[in-house]
Amino acid sequence: MPIWDLPVRLGHWAVVLLVAFSWVTGTYGALTWHRWSGYTILVLVLFRVYWGFAGSRTARFAHFLCGPRAVWRYSKTLLTRLGGQRAGHTPLGGWNILAMLLLLLAQSALGLFAVDVDGIESGPLSDLVSFETGRVIAAWHSKILMDLLLVLIALHLVAILYYWLYKGDNLILAMLSGVKRLPPGTPAPIPVPIFWRALVGLAAVALVVMVVVSRLGFN
Ligand code: HEM
Repeated sequence: MPIWDLPVRLGHWAVVLLVAFSWVTGTYGALTWHRWSGYTILVLVLFRVYWGFAGSRTARFAHFLCGPRAVWRYSKTLLTRLGGQRAGHTPLGGWNILAMLLLLLAQSALGLFAVDVDGIESGPLSDLVSFETGRVIAAWHSKILMDLLLVLIALHLVAILYYWLYKGDNLILAMLSGVKRLPPGTPAPIPVPIFWRALVGLAAVALVVMVVVSRLGFN
């Protein structure tokens, strides 16, 4: 059964590559590449937020963000071999996904305001804040939020490995192919006009990010 639509999968693997690329280019001071990578992550994460309302069933926030009771009920099955083989994120995993998306959003948005130590290689909106504020933002961007993001990514990877090795549920294959064998009766994803919805959403967020980072209409 199809469980992950194409925009979710393409977006996921693009973000994985871009986070690694941003980390390397940030570490080695290749800041032109770093900025482009950050803008692209910003577009992809904003698109994912839109897709959380407009995408197919498993992509929607309403599908994977569950209340405390469902999370608690699910947590009790965590150490058993139950709970795998489902369409979409688990009630616990869903919150980790939201946290990663919010952190990626904060991380890429703060980069726009970050001020470099000599003020030369700064974000495109850094002149909107003072030098001192820009330096504090840069510390959050390059250290605090980055470390937090790495913790969440590590948690994400450990959970995926645990599901694979202990629960016998290969989530990676599903994130690559989009399909998964599921028990009969599992509700199918909502068939949405993926191509046009995705294209319109992507074009809209890319336009917003382009206008903001190029300061069109602000100068
Ligand atoms: C930069 C590192 C990574 C980040 C920021 C990241 C982020 C995310 C996010 C936001 C989702 C939710 C997808 C969605 O609903 O749109 C997700 C799901 C997923 N990711 Fe990653 N990911 C990273 C690395 C990886 C890697 C290296 C793997 C594979 C080894 C992986 C495998 C998966 C899988 C299998 C899912 C689906 C989980 C499920 O079935 O609930 N991720 N990831």
